[in-house]
Amino acid sequence: TDQYAVIGNPIGHTKSPLIHMSFAGETGQDITYTAIEGPLGGFAAAVDAFRAGGGRGLNITAPFKLDAFAYATDLRERARLAGAVNAMKFEDGPEGGPEGGRVIADNFDGVGLVNDIQRNLDSPLAGKRVLLLGAGGAARGAILPILEQKPAELVIANRTLSKAQALESQFSGHGRLSGTDYAALTGGRSGRFDVVLNATSASLRGELPPVDTAAFAADGLAYELVYGKGLTPFLRLAQGVGVRRLADGVGMLVEQAAEAFAWWRGIRPDTRPVIERLTIPLV
Ligand code: ATR
Repeated sequence: TDQYAVIGNPIGHTKSPLIHMSFAGETGQDITYTAIEGPLGGFAAAVDAFRAGGGRGLNITAPFKLDAFAYATDLRERARLAGAVNAMKFEDGPEGGPEGGRVIADNFDGVGLVNDIQRNLDSPLAGKRVLLLGAGGAARGAILPILEQKPAELVIANRTLSKAQALESQFSGHGRLSGTDYAALTGGRSGRFDVVLNATSASLRGELPPVDTAAFAADGLAYELVYGKGLTPFLRLAQGVGVRRLADGVGMLVEQAAEAFAWWRGIRPDTRPVIERLTIPLV
């Protein structure tokens, strides 16, 4: 039985074991998937121990995505550009154990988001105007997968303008994007956006990023990357101005898990039943 796990701190509320064990049941894969509370400052030792015990792969969640970036021996492009790792695959070394084995690292958060938007929410990004709120880790991971869909434009708005501008210059070779502050969106000065994504951490504290309602297109999509918080202030704002489609990050969570599962096991699970099981109605 091959072993997998998610590592984070805290880890008590993680849905990853449920998601991956559902995938395993559905695809007939003989695996175990557990949750590991990694000690703060002790990420590498905890991963070493997991590999020594036969672990084949890990998902990585807060606060270890940068530690995982440092731990990896082989970074795939998405992880390198995101500056963070959310999945690792362990290969055996020359003696058959973890010693000297390669650690391949990827980041499926952004592709999970894009797959959820396009496949599950039926909102193709090609040719659309996309607004990404926030310029932290969550936003950074979403940029390349979004640009790969060839939106008409990606605007990144952040409270701290310099961070949005830094992302603009970092990703400028990958598509049409710009970094602004929230003031640039007021009064519809930047036009309306078909897709507005909240990648700030504001919702975790019940706060609202200061986005002007004029930025939302009524026939568009408002997407909250956080999941399980119901109608957050951001979603409530979008609902109040008549945005037709509202979503939280449950689909993103399940889709990134499916990417990791397919990468590890070579078989792609059906995400629909798991998303349905985990969805909490947005009321
Ligand atoms: P994460 O990994 O969740 O993205 P992070 O890297 O700490 O966390 O980034 C948090 C993001 O949320 C930042 O873009 C932050 O804006 P600043 O860069 O200006 O700090 C944004 N953020 C947090 N609380 C916010 C709020 N109340 N309003 C607007 N933006 C907020």
